[in-house]
Amino acid sequence: MLETLTELDALRERVADWKRAGLRVALVPTMGNLHAGHFSLVDLALRHADRVVASVFVNPTQFGPDEDFARYPRTPGADAAGLETAGCHALWLPAVETMYPFGTGGTVQIRVPGVTETLEGAHRPGHFEGVATVVARLFNQVQPDVAVFGRKDYQQLAVIRYLVRELSFPLEILAAPILREADGLAMSSRNQYLSAEERPCAARIHATLLEMREAMRAGRPLAQVEAAAVQRLAEAGFAVDYAVVRRPDLSAPAAAAVAGGGALVALVAARLGRTRLIDNLEFGI
Ligand code: PAJ
Repeated sequence: MLETLTELDALRERVADWKRAGLRVALVPTMGNLHAGHFSLVDLALRHADRVVASVFVNPTQFGPDEDFARYPRTPGADAAGLETAGCHALWLPAVETMYPFGTGGTVQIRVPGVTETLEGAHRPGHFEGVATVVARLFNQVQPDVAVFGRKDYQQLAVIRYLVRELSFPLEILAAPILREADGLAMSSRNQYLSAEERPCAARIHATLLEMREAMRAGRPLAQVEAAAVQRLAEAGFAVDYAVVRRPDLSAPAAAAVAGGGALVALVAARLGRTRLIDNLEFGI
């Protein structure tokens, strides 16, 4: 049975009960409008813990002023039903006042340096401050033994791993693989913004990531691989924010080092009409 909790005291009591009984507790943080990608995180959590709490909170502080906070899809009924089916034990549904008792203006913020300065951080100023700030609060509220995040948000995962080490959060981070639609489009709550004409086009992002991987494996120069990806996406109608190949720590690989092989990740962010999509592909060469 899924129990929906909206008060911090009730959440704390429930988690304390579980811990007293020696149970291991997992947290799956989300912004709702849940899809199979989110449920796969619950699934992974269930394999590593005895009790799973999913949080649903559309976090205002991680959206820029021109972003989609107001129109972000909110589907509380379907989310609760889906979590119940997925075997989740509790749904943590904090009010904005619970998350930000002094409002979202004068809030204590967590700024993670380094890894937040490129890619999404460069294109969405303040975004990762909002993510780190809300995730730290969720960790303190739920106090899980393990928290699960998706590899879909590759840089977010890096930010959270850094945050956990820096602030000594006593928990383990688990990373879940990217779940995709049949044509390769990474599942995302934002996919539903796509029009009927845009939707088939959106699969081009995954196709481009595969092309980037093949080109790198064929030994093409990094700059050429990235430029070809940008061009192909632009031809398909995207406004491209970036299409890059990086080391797993998101540093830019030196050309000579790439020839030596190792682990890489191709990352794309691109807009189709009003919809901004991100995706990535981890690979070795
Ligand atoms: P949201 O976009 O709802 O995503 C919640 C979690 O689901 C994230 O860890 C994300 O990486 C994962 N996820 C989304 N789509 C996925 C897919 N197709 N395959 C695998 N995992 C997927 O990310 C956030 O919310 C927020 O930034 C949050 C961490 C909750 C902080 O507000």
